[in-house]
Amino acid sequence: MIAVLVQSMSGNTDELADLIIQKLHERGWYAEKTAVRDLPDELDLHQIEGILFGTYTWGNGEIPRHMKPALDRIKSQDLTATPCGIFGTGDSFYPHFCGAVDRLRSLLKLVTGAEPPVLKVELLPQPDDEERIASFVQAYMEHVESVKQSHFQKRQELTR
Ligand SMILES: Cc1cc2nc3c(=O)[nH]c(=O)nc-3n(C[C@H](O)[C@H](O)[C@H](O)COP(=O)(O)O)c2cc1C
Repeated sequence: MIAVLVQSMSGNTDELADLIIQKLHERGWYAEKTAVRDLPDELDLHQIEGILFGTYTWGNGEIPRHMKPALDRIKSQDLTATPCGIFGTGDSFYPHFCGAVDRLRSLLKLVTGAEPPVLKVELLPQPDDEERIASFVQAYMEHVESVKQSHFQKRQELTR
C-alpha cells in the first residue's frame, strides 16, 4: 500500500492527491489518502510500501505548520527503505514557487539518502497537467523499484 499523506487548506493539493491516486490505481497500485491531521499514531510509516507527501506552500516558500505531525514522523522513523515522493500546489505569483516541496525534498533526501521524485502544480490541477501527473507517477513507481532493489542488495551483503 502507498500512503498518500496530504495537507491541503483550500482543496487544490487534495484534488492533486486524488488525481495521483487515480493514476496509481490505473497502474494496479493500491493507494490510500490520509489528511496529515488524521495521521494515526499507530501508522508505522516504514511498514508500508511507500509514502507520497502532498503539501501546499505557506508564508514565504514555507512548509505549513500543519505538516508538523508528518515532519515529526520523517525525523523520528527510519525511512531508508521507504520510497518517498513529494507533490504540491503553489502559486507562481510568490517568489518561491512551491517552496514547501523543495524544503521537504531536502529533508527527505537527508533522511532517506535518495532523491525523491517531485511534482509541482500551479493552484488547482487543470486537464493540461495530466501528462505531468502521469510522468510523476511513472517516476515514483521506478523509484519504488530502485529503492526496493538497493535495500534488498544491502540486506544480501549484510547476510553474506
Ligand atoms: C498567505 C499565503 C502565502 C502563500 N505563499 C506561497 C509561497 O510562498 N509559494 C507558493 O508557491 N505558493 C504560496 N501560496 C499559495 C498556496 O500554496 C496555493 O494557493 C496552494 O494551491 C493552496 O493549496 P491548498 O488549496 O491545497 O490549500 C500562499 C498562499 C497564501 C494564502
